[in-house]
Amino acid sequence: MTEPAIGIHDLSLATTHYRLDLATLAHHLGTDPAKFHTGLGQDAMSVPAADEDIVTMAAAAARPIIDRHGADRIRTILFATETGVDQSKAAGLYVHGLLGLPSACRIVELKQACYSATAALQFATALVARDPTQQVLVLASDIAKYERGTAAEATQGAAAVAMLVTADPRLLRLEVPSGVFSADISDFWRPNYRSEAVVDGRASITAYQKATVEAWNDYRRHGGRDLSEFAAFCYHQPFTNMAYKAHRHLLESTGAAAGAADLDTALAAAAVYNRALGNSYSASAYLALASLLDHRDDLDQRPVAIISYGSGSVAEILSGVIVPGYRNHVRTAANTNAIDLREPIGYARYEELHDPELPDDGSHHELPAETSGPYRLAALTGHKRIYQPTGRPAGT
Ligand code: CAA
Repeated sequence: MTEPAIGIHDLSLATTHYRLDLATLAHHLGTDPAKFHTGLGQDAMSVPAADEDIVTMAAAAARPIIDRHGADRIRTILFATETGVDQSKAAGLYVHGLLGLPSACRIVELKQACYSATAALQFATALVARDPTQQVLVLASDIAKYERGTAAEATQGAAAVAMLVTADPRLLRLEVPSGVFSADISDFWRPNYRSEAVVDGRASITAYQKATVEAWNDYRRHGGRDLSEFAAFCYHQPFTNMAYKAHRHLLESTGAAAGAADLDTALAAAAVYNRALGNSYSASAYLALASLLDHRDDLDQRPVAIISYGSGSVAEILSGVIVPGYRNHVRTAANTNAIDLREPIGYARYEELHDPELPDDGSHHELPAETSGPYRLAALTGHKRIYQPTGRPAGT
C-alpha cells in the first residue's frame, strides 16, 4: 500500500493591532537605527493591544482556515507556545470555544521554547498517517518579551500561525527523515515567576549555530538530501540576520560557498514577514514559510528546509516538497494586510503596554476595547479569562 503524502494543507498568520518601529526605539535609546535595520535585520516589532494575547492571535490565525475548509475532520488541536496564559488549561481550549469547533476533539499545549510548533507538526503528521481521514489544526502563538532597556529589547515581537495538517496537502508535503539535536543549556529561559525571558544573547547565538549544524549532520546521517538540492531555507528568526548567521555557519561547515548572493537566494524571501513582525518564538519558522510561499512563485515540486531552534535547547531540520499549484492556495493579501495595517505607536504607549497592571487576586478587571482583530480578551474575573468575538472579520 502506498503511504499518503502528508503535510501542510493551509497556512494562515495573525499578529497584533500595534507596531513599534525600531527607528522609534532607536531614537528613544539614542542608538543608531542602522544597528537594528542593518545589524539585526529588523524594521519593526508587533506589540499586542491591551485586549490581545496568544489566544486572540491564534484564533484570528485559525478562523480563515476553518472558514475555508470547515472543521468536520479536525479531531486534534495542538497549541505550541512558550508564553502560555495558564499553567494547567491548554490555550487551545479557548480557541476551540471561540471558533465553535466540534466537541469530538483532543486539545493539548506544547512547550519547548521556540521549537514546539515543529514537534506539533511531527505529532500531527503521525496522527494523520494513522488515519488519513482526520485533520490536525496546529497553532503556534507567542509574545516575545524582554525587559526594557536590555540589549534584547529590539528583538521582541508577537504573532501566530495556524496550519492545517492533512493527507494530500496543497502547500507542502513533509518528508522523512528529519534531523534532530538536543542539549541541556541555559542560553534563554523564563522561570515561572517571571513575565520576561532571561537571555545570554551571545551564548544563544552560538548555541543556535551549533544546534543547526548538529541537526543538519543528523539529518544527513539519516539519508537526508544534499544542501544544494534545497530551493530555500525557512529558519527560526529571532531577528532576520540570525538566519543569515546560521546559514553561513552551516554552509561553511559543509564546505559550500557562502557568498552574499547565495545567502539571499536561500533566505531573503523567507525573511520579509519576520523583518516586520519581530520575534514570534514558536511561530517564527512558519512565518518564514508563509513569507517564502508568498514571495516566490518558482517553487513547484522543489524541496525547502524548515530549521527550527528552541533555546534550552532543541533543534530540528524538516524537509518538505512544495506542492505544484501552491500559489493558488496561499493567503498573500490577508498576510500583507495583517502586517501593513498595524497602527504605529510611540515609545510611551509601548511602555504602558509592555508593563500592564493586571490583578492577580481574582478581582474583576475589564480590558479596554482596542484590537482590530476578530477576537479580544474582554475581562479577567474570578481568575478566569473571558474572551469575546469583536464582530470584525479575520483575514481571508
Ligand atoms: N550599523 C550597522 N550595524 C551595526 C551597528 C550600526 N551602527 N551597530 C551594531 N551593528 C551590528 C553589530 O556589528 C552586530 O552585527 P554582527 O552580529 O553581524 O556583528 C549587530 O548589529 C548587533 O549588534 P550587537 O551584537 O552589538 O548587539 P547587542 O549585543 O546589543 O544585541 C543580541 C544583539 C545579543 C542579539 C540581543 O538583541 C539579544 O540578546 N537578543 C535576544 C536573544 C536572541 O535573539 N538570540 C538569538 C539566538 S536564540 C534563539 O533564536 C531563541 C529565541 O528566539 C530567543
